[in-house]
Amino acid sequence: MPDSTEFFLDEGLIHKILRPLKQGKEASVHLCLADRDKTGHDLAALKIYRPLDRRDFHDESIYRDGEWIKDGRVRRALENKSRFGRVLQAGTWVHREWETMQKLSLTQVAPLPIALHDDAILMTYVGDLRMAAPQLRDLHPTAEDLEALWQQLRAALGLMLLNDVVHADLSAYNVLVWEGKPTVIDFPQAVDPKLNRNAEDLLRRDIQRLGEWFTREGLALDWEQIAGEIWFSWLHADLIPADFRH
Ligand SMILES: Nc1ncnc2c1ncn2[C@@H]1O[C@H](COP(=O)(O)OP(=O)(O)O)[C@@H](O)[C@H]1O
Ligand SMILES: [Mg+2]
Repeated sequence: MPDSTEFFLDEGLIHKILRPLKQGKEASVHLCLADRDKTGHDLAALKIYRPLDRRDFHDESIYRDGEWIKDGRVRRALENKSRFGRVLQAGTWVHREWETMQKLSLTQVAPLPIALHDDAILMTYVGDLRMAAPQLRDLHPTAEDLEALWQQLRAALGLMLLNDVVHADLSAYNVLVWEGKPTVIDFPQAVDPKLNRNAEDLLRRDIQRLGEWFTREGLALDWEQIAGEIWFSWLHADLIPADFRH
């Protein structure tokens, strides 16, 4: 059992690991029996990052644009990609995911973050005891369901932006669907559109990847135009009274 699970057990946040949901080279995710009093849920998902997580984002600086790391030793280690840098990097990923989920916690777009410890995040689980929510890419929805899913995802993209989040690795892999509702997951590389100058390009890429999947399934989307519209309405969102945003 990975070390960080001890913390969640000792704190009484979870009682038991029920089964692995996904074992990957970058992170593993486990279904847990959670303490209802402490977490508000009977089931939860525990995502544990690998210590030397190797996420193959070609140029990590794209995601870090606009951020300034004060500690010179940390900054240089990250830049040099030393072993120490790699360990720090794994920590950066998990913190970024945690912070992003917190930013989205009122939107119902993503799972709710419950607790963070070391390299692990306990979050709400999407699915039921019988089965976990499938990834969007595993579904072949009817035309009507496809349209409904797209409309919800489009709204989700707008809500994410309003909460200063561009996912930056969005695809039909990182959307879970349960009872017709999409939940966006997997945020370690998310960027803040107010800080990061690559945010618009990353948003376009996200929408293109999603759009390609929808188009293959039979809902042709003009993703260039959609990306332009979503970005434009975010830029001008301060013209909309706050009461009407959600
Ligand atoms: N909150 C959750 N509820 C249910 N299943 C989840 C949850 N989070 C992750 N999973 C499952 O684990 C898989 C991997 O999670 P993800 O966050 O995308 O990590 P990565 O892609 O880095 O391995 C998901 O595709 C999904 O099947
Ligand atoms: Mg993923």
